[in-house]
Amino acid sequence: MLFFSLLVLASTALAYQCTDFTVPVTVTAPTVIPPFPAFKTHYDAVGLLSALTARNAPNAPSPPPIIENLSATFDISLRYCEPDHRRHASAKGVQVLSHGLGFDKSYWDFGGQGSEYNYISSAIAAGFATLSYDRLGNGGSSIVDTYTVQQGPVQLAVLTSITKRLRDGNLHSNVPRPAGGKVFHVGHSYGSLLTHGLLATAPKLSDGAVLTGYNLQILGIEQFETSTTFHLAKENQPARFGGRSTGSLTWADELANQYNFLAWPYFDPAVLAKAEARKWPFSLGELITYAAVPNNASAYAGSVLLISGDVDRIYCAGDCTGTLESAAKTFVGTKRVETYLQPRTGHGLNLHFNATAGYKVVQDFLGRVEG
Ligand SMILES: *[C@@H]1O[C@H](CO)[C@@H](O)[C@H](O)[C@H]1NC(C)=O
Ligand SMILES: *[C@@H]1O[C@H](CO)[C@@H](O)[C@H](O)[C@H]1NC(C)=O
Ligand SMILES: *[C@@H]1O[C@H](CO)[C@@H](O)[C@H](O)[C@H]1NC(C)=O
Repeated sequence: MLFFSLLVLASTALAYQCTDFTVPVTVTAPTVIPPFPAFKTHYDAVGLLSALTARNAPNAPSPPPIIENLSATFDISLRYCEPDHRRHASAKGVQVLSHGLGFDKSYWDFGGQGSEYNYISSAIAAGFATLSYDRLGNGGSSIVDTYTVQQGPVQLAVLTSITKRLRDGNLHSNVPRPAGGKVFHVGHSYGSLLTHGLLATAPKLSDGAVLTGYNLQILGIEQFETSTTFHLAKENQPARFGGRSTGSLTWADELANQYNFLAWPYFDPAVLAKAEARKWPFSLGELITYAAVPNNASAYAGSVLLISGDVDRIYCAGDCTGTLESAAKTFVGTKRVETYLQPRTGHGLNLHFNATAGYKVVQDFLGRVEG
């Protein structure tokens, strides 16, 4: 009897296969030379933070940034997952998943197969394949200069190149051409910023996009920056990041992590502990260039969903009520644009108790786009 019920369980489980690989990606992108010297010490780092968050900061004169075109080849680490073909005869295309600051691509399958926090398994259950990747400087992708190279427009060029190769069927031998030629994009936070950048600069490359934990204005940027106190990653996590340069930054501990990413009491403390233990640093280059990522997507004709936790800290300063609508209005050429606030949820949507129900909102949206 026990044996029988185990068999039934196995056959109803949402089995899927993933393959991990690294590909060289060549890009050309504009970069900015930071208008201040690289930090020698954490005193320099906090000194810059003080200047950035001063009352008069927006009016302070700063030398115009110097734009240089960078051409380079990076190693990008990816994970491709697809439904078991015996269970999903008609796949719906591929979702390209871009993670945000503080994570690597494991944000999308947090907890692994069978976990309630696993976004990828919800996408697979809905009939999609997924392609998640580590943005530059995170996970298994190349570690690059955190001042002059790990910048927004460079990260955007990586996403654009991966997408083109995916569509053309020449990303990697393990990755077939997307079913129906359909490629969707889902981002979280900085990954949504890059996804928005893709819609603005290469609108034909995406058949539908979901921007999670995102808004046109970063209403809580100062709260985020201040709460991190610009800890140098190499001092905060010497075992993992001891070799990183001073432009690699993080927050102090799980209290700061909770403040920025999670809404109490709607998460499991064990999830917070795990997220903190696996956190990845962000770069100074990313912070000073987020506004350099193009965001006029008026030429984008696909469909867009903006979905945030209702009490998102970083993009909504703790209250998203009414904030997504103005961002939605800028997608003037879209077939369909929708907004959704996921209740009892902070910035790190995938790490909250009710994450699975939020995933369903996303899959239902993309299912309607696809159909
Ligand atoms: C960078 O490349 C763009 C596009 O090719 C070009 O328009 C621009 O002039 C270049 N900038 C510099 C500083 O070389
Ligand atoms: C966005 O680009 C379009 C087309 O170039 C232009 O007409 C429009 O004014 C731009 N919107 C903003 C807000 O800059
Ligand atoms: C869980 O999320 C779903 C989808 O957004 C929502 O309808 C439901 O009210 C949420 N449940 C709780 C307890 O927040």
